[in-house]
Amino acid sequence: MKLVTAIISPDKLDDVREALIAAEIHRITVSRCTGRAREGTRQIYRGQEVAPGLFPKVRIDIACNEEFVQPAIDAILASARHGDGESGDGKIFVTNIERCIRIRTGEDGNEAV
Ligand SMILES: Nc1ncnc2c1ncn2[C@@H]1O[C@H](COP(=O)(O)OP(=O)(O)OP(=O)(O)O)[C@@H](O)[C@H]1O
Ligand SMILES: [Mg+2]
Repeated sequence: MKLVTAIISPDKLDDVREALIAAEIHRITVSRCTGRAREGTRQIYRGQEVAPGLFPKVRIDIACNEEFVQPAIDAILASARHGDGESGDGKIFVTNIERCIRIRTGEDGNEAV
């Protein structure tokens, strides 16, 4: 089991969600967050220049079995870019999940995810 975590621009959330659903990925967690990576000194957000600091982002977490990892990545790449790709479009992290337990049934492992 893997955790696919994407940090994306908030304005791309609807597009990314649609692309994930088209790839038959329905189980996701979406969180509003702030972040910063390699930003320039001048930043525009919603048409306004903002001081270098933390920028609004959306974090998407998808816990899935191995066969869904690449489809999830492909769906995010196809939907989260502005145009041909812009600074700040985001990043995808893939990490191992040691265990997943479904609370209702107590199932533990691949079938629980
Ligand atoms: N190494 C990192 N660790 C934790 N969060 C990160 C990291 N890199 C990026 N992020 C998160 O992703 C958001 C978007 O990153 P961003 O797309 O600006 O990455 P970048 O490396 O600067 O690439 P680009 O040059 O395309 O802008 C950041 O605001 C931050 O929330
Ligand atoms: Mg950046």
